[in-house]
Amino acid sequence: MTVHAPALAKAHHLDEQTSAFAGDVIEGLSQHPKRLSPKYFYDAAGSELFEQITVLPEYYPTRTELGILRERAGEIGSIVPRGAALVEFGAGATTKVRLLLAQCAFGAYVPVDISGDFLKAQADALRRDFPDLDVYPVTADFTAPFDLPAAVRGMPKVGFFPGSTLGNFEPHEASAFMRSAREILGQGAQMVIGVDLEKDERVLYDAYNDAAGVTARFNLNVMVRINRELGGNFDISRFTHRSIYNRERHRIEMHLISRKAQTVRVLGRSFTFRPGETIHTESSYKYSLDRFAALARGSGWTVRQSWTDPARMFSVHVLVASD
Ligand code: AVJ
Repeated sequence: MTVHAPALAKAHHLDEQTSAFAGDVIEGLSQHPKRLSPKYFYDAAGSELFEQITVLPEYYPTRTELGILRERAGEIGSIVPRGAALVEFGAGATTKVRLLLAQCAFGAYVPVDISGDFLKAQADALRRDFPDLDVYPVTADFTAPFDLPAAVRGMPKVGFFPGSTLGNFEPHEASAFMRSAREILGQGAQMVIGVDLEKDERVLYDAYNDAAGVTARFNLNVMVRINRELGGNFDISRFTHRSIYNRERHRIEMHLISRKAQTVRVLGRSFTFRPGETIHTESSYKYSLDRFAALARGSGWTVRQSWTDPARMFSVHVLVASD
């Protein structure tokens, strides 16, 4: 089914962002298998649940990447040009960027995120803690082309894309994102990127099926959000969270599984579920160092330096734009 988002928005008096959400939800629930985009996890409640995930004992990525950045920030500072503008694609908690800002001589920081309010609050806090740093937040969807602020045009550019957010993209989307980042940052740019690595399946499984059930709440929250913002009637007690590792495709898949036959309504449309039918809500791709280097090479970048933690759970790379 193709969804005519403007007509849908008009009929239900939706603002622009809600109308994009509505179009994507109706289209995704109409497919076989059903799916929803992981970008809709992050409303206020979802962002808070994600912060809780990052400190779970089973969820190794955040603390491992922080460890690598803490250890290597000085080296990164000696590789990237002094006075460069640091452009962060997507801006969540500022913990990671603070490590770089403290150890590298950046001339400006440009956080780019779709959520303008959150950006402003983060920018104000950073300006307080780094009084000499110019902060120019950009409200934009970083997966599409956007203009850098005029003030940083003459500066060297360094991209920052931590958290293995790259893993949420399908391989062709990951490649398209890397190309787009290369275009936006321009010739001579560098990029600091965090990428989660393939590893023992049990470790991966546990990281996305935590014992405390926080990941389950995070996954189910997308239904709570659909109920609130799109007038849906999901009963979350009738769905189960499950993450599986898809070995052939090198990815964790998160699913919401219908416990029984049921019909759910969203914006005047009905969606039926068979018992056991799933909605695929997220893929989190895991890379080997070689497969990541090949992806970078095929999308306008060369790996200049890579670091991992001693257990090789996670990787951080400095890339240089190919000519
Ligand atoms: C924010 C996409 C990196 O894939 O590990 C955490 C999101 N999903 N637990 C990830 C997530 C379930 C996370 N990323």
